[in-house]
Amino acid sequence: MTQPKNPPVESRGGETHQTAQDGAPVLTTQQGVPVSDDQNTLRAGPRGPALLEDFHFREKIFHFDHERIPERVVHARGFGAHGYFESNGELEAVSRAAVFKKGEKTPTFVRFSTVAGSKGSADLARDVRGFATKFYTKEGNWDLVGNNIPVFFIQDPMKFPDMVHAFKEEPDRGFPQAATAHDNAWDFISLTPEAMHMVMWVMSDRGIPRSFRFMEGFGVHTFRLVDAQGKSTFVKFHWKPKLGLQSVVWNEAVKINGADPDFHRRDLWNAIEAGAFPEWELGVQLFDDEFAKAFEFDVLDPTKIIPEEQVPVKIVGRMVLDRRVDNFFAETEQVAFCTQNVVPGIDFSDDPLLQGRNFSYLDTQLKRLGSPNFTHIPINAPKCPVMNFQQDGHMAMRNPKGRANYEPNSWGAEGGPRESPEKGYKSFPEPVGGTKVRARSETFSDHYSQARQFYISQTLLEQTHIASALVFELSKVETVAIRARMVSHLLNIDAGLADAVAKGLRLKEMPKPAPAAKPTRRDLKPSDKLSILKN
Ligand code: HEM
Repeated sequence: MTQPKNPPVESRGGETHQTAQDGAPVLTTQQGVPVSDDQNTLRAGPRGPALLEDFHFREKIFHFDHERIPERVVHARGFGAHGYFESNGELEAVSRAAVFKKGEKTPTFVRFSTVAGSKGSADLARDVRGFATKFYTKEGNWDLVGNNIPVFFIQDPMKFPDMVHAFKEEPDRGFPQAATAHDNAWDFISLTPEAMHMVMWVMSDRGIPRSFRFMEGFGVHTFRLVDAQGKSTFVKFHWKPKLGLQSVVWNEAVKINGADPDFHRRDLWNAIEAGAFPEWELGVQLFDDEFAKAFEFDVLDPTKIIPEEQVPVKIVGRMVLDRRVDNFFAETEQVAFCTQNVVPGIDFSDDPLLQGRNFSYLDTQLKRLGSPNFTHIPINAPKCPVMNFQQDGHMAMRNPKGRANYEPNSWGAEGGPRESPEKGYKSFPEPVGGTKVRARSETFSDHYSQARQFYISQTLLEQTHIASALVFELSKVETVAIRARMVSHLLNIDAGLADAVAKGLRLKEMPKPAPAAKPTRRDLKPSDKLSILKN
């Protein structure tokens, strides 16, 4: 690292003053007024009271007092980097999106994160990792807001606030943070059978990745791709790390958290600085209505995967992260991802969780970033023309040009932007209809089969890690009934696992299996490909 050359130092009455001699830029106020002394407030005499007219002091403190913005309500701790995505053209036939044209190179920004911990928490908590990518495409921004685990805890967005409350600090005591290892978290999980599949993944080595560079990413939900003729194909998105998948073991995670809580962010920073640019392949599982109808589970259920054995992953391009941020706050903190940011050729499915997310992100970002104009912040601004009649609001950097701020109007070429039936975004015309109900589809009700399938597809060592993680986590739960309730779910997944956990927790007696809406399918084959990527 090159050592900085410091500007000359002057000592005045024991104070250090660094001045702008030798070409250093002149320090100014926010109004651009040059500052003569940044060490002392303006006073009536050296020992007298401070003067209200000290605009430099008041402006400096005022700005400092307002430095903090609310941290993200989830995924508060994260780290980002810039890069690009290069398409190999494999999706040209199924999506009209420009980002998938052969050879198209699209700038990207990725933010990796933990979910439960606060902004200052440790990197190696056992947790899900966020893997959110913003593609600055020629047709607008597309955000693929994914995780490193391909399924989710809940099926309906109505449960999200409860889930997050249960995982975060308990309200009376304000701890523990960044941990599932406490009563509230396991109380909620054990009362939510749909969470069991995700629990297996989080308790597996995937919950403590070696670094962001060794993680997979998943869009989780089923999305749609739409071609130029309007034909739709269902899709699940996967990121596959070029370096392979690696995790630490729990003892390492605990030590690293103590010795270097910034382990993951430092790793990404250093790798990019050293020119070892991390790379992922973007893969897709494509399927049609026929497959969706015949599949054993509902493709709209975000607690299920589609095994790669049944629908292989096709590689459609690669992403390289080759540039660190210049300013952590301006970029990583202010970036605003949203599942509803899609471009022509990419559309939603009816997954209820996805549709809930489409509302939540924009709403929370207004609160977090303070103005509907957060799309004007450079990290969020599209890199293609943005033209509309939206105007004003706090911190507006971009307003309609000229006379017209409405349409239709009579101002011809001066009248501003117009609709484009050819180029514009068209929602896939999926026929919908039905009786209004507040209910879950019966096709979402098998909560154990894929949890079992995941567990039995692990190696013996990996299975031992899952059992140990469950024993460690549940041993922090003081309420014995909650521990027993979790074991009653494990009995529906694998009797050996339930037994190991019950013994590890010294349960006095084995509980009965939890009631299940559908019996666990034991005929599903263990498959290496279920765990998606093996070293
Ligand atoms: C962040 C809501 C499910 C991935 C967030 C944030 C909210 C939120 C409010 C903070 C955003 C911000 O302040 O900018 C929800 C809701 C969900 C849900 C309501 C379900 C109903 C999921 C799922 C995934 C996911 C299923 C993964 C597929 C992420 C990621 C971030 C995030 C990666 C961090 C984005 C960043 O790095 O800035 N979510 N989420 N979320 N969520 Fe979700």
